[in-house]
Amino acid sequence: MTRPAVLEIRDLRTYFYSRAKEAFIRSVDGVSLAVAAGETLGVVGESGSGKSVTALSILSLVGGSPGVITGTIEFAGATGAGTARRNLLEDLGRYVRVSERDGRIVAVTKDEPGWRARVERALTGVRGKEIAMIFQNPKSSLNPFLTVGQQISEAIRLHTPVTDAGEAKQRAIDWLERVRMDSPRLRFDQYPDGLSGGMCQRAMIAMALASEPSLLIADEPTTGLDATIQSRVVALLAELKSEFGVTTLLISHDVRVVSRLADTVAVMYGGTVMEHGPARDVLAPGSEPKHPYTAALLASLPSAQTNGGRRTVDGRLPVIRGEVVDTMDVPRGCRFYARCDRVTEAIRARCLGQEPALATVAAGHRIRCHLYAGETCAETRPG
Ligand SMILES: Nc1ncnc2c1ncn2[C@@H]1O[C@H](COP(=O)(O)OP(=O)(O)O)[C@@H](O)[C@H]1O
Ligand code: SF4
Ligand SMILES: [Mg+2]
Repeated sequence: MTRPAVLEIRDLRTYFYSRAKEAFIRSVDGVSLAVAAGETLGVVGESGSGKSVTALSILSLVGGSPGVITGTIEFAGATGAGTARRNLLEDLGRYVRVSERDGRIVAVTKDEPGWRARVERALTGVRGKEIAMIFQNPKSSLNPFLTVGQQISEAIRLHTPVTDAGEAKQRAIDWLERVRMDSPRLRFDQYPDGLSGGMCQRAMIAMALASEPSLLIADEPTTGLDATIQSRVVALLAELKSEFGVTTLLISHDVRVVSRLADTVAVMYGGTVMEHGPARDVLAPGSEPKHPYTAALLASLPSAQTNGGRRTVDGRLPVIRGEVVDTMDVPRGCRFYARCDRVTEAIRARCLGQEPALATVAAGHRIRCHLYAGETCAETRPG
């Protein structure tokens, strides 16, 4: 990676406790990834693989008990004086202790008030301003009691140097135009309830970009919209990307959305990153090397999109066999073992007994699989 990283996550772990099962859920379990300035990093993986919890952990927005986050999240955000690089999790370790025995978490102790106070101090001015987020279900993310225009204008007055109400209004209308909202002046005065799902997502995107963030996090921005609207929102995000070049962390379970928008891709499974590299290498069907999980994700796509997708004899699309790994009971070896069809006798014992490391297989391309364990090339920088 030649451009500086705006976000660099190292060994992020976010754990919850299930009282019902009396066990810790390792929702995010050692994630490392980086987003370079101006690029879009796509995070892809099946439902439950830890994508949203990774995004929420960046802003310490994880609820639940005890909701523990450890690791490093280095963020280089723009400030009045230039760019400041800091660890958003700095000092949080003082408020929590995770005890493990034989690779299993046995206890977590947390000073909740101290933790919360520290999070508020660290993230004031970051949430919504330096890092903006757009979610699935845009309608429920907008305030139903304020017009679309009021919400965008407020974001502009809170997060940019503009304080004059008239100027903020004009800027808000400009942003509604930029997100190709039809009749922007009319929409400015409408409440979210009067808008379709697609229009609400455009309004959310306008509001996020109007804050002029250093990083945009888009978590499943097209999920839940109907198919035609989905492809329009993806087309809009592609246009905005080339127009404004906002550094973006794009999360989607949909490989097609990620392959359309991402420069770099992180493939997540069972709370960790299985493959990380340039989108053209990771998501190109048939190209090697590739993690068996990535290959399985691509094979489950309709053939029109991938050329590599296969239909089963009964005409159905193949899905990845087996269940997503239980993050309450992470296996000692490779967490994809139970579903992997590429285990050879030469590596079976290692697959079962030892978690593979992320090995660098080409410049900027890393794979967590014993099949590629010996392929480490000169590049060692994370991300
Ligand atoms: N607040 C929480 N408390 C307990 N478990 C959670 C919480 N949030 C998420 N999880 C669990 O963490 C795992 C990862 O969730 P998530 O990041 O939402 O997956 P994804 O976004 O990849 O679909 C899931 O098993 C989910 O049930
Ligand atoms: S390490 Fe073994 S089980 Fe895991 S993906 Fe590679 S071949 Fe499959
Ligand atoms: Mg999610």
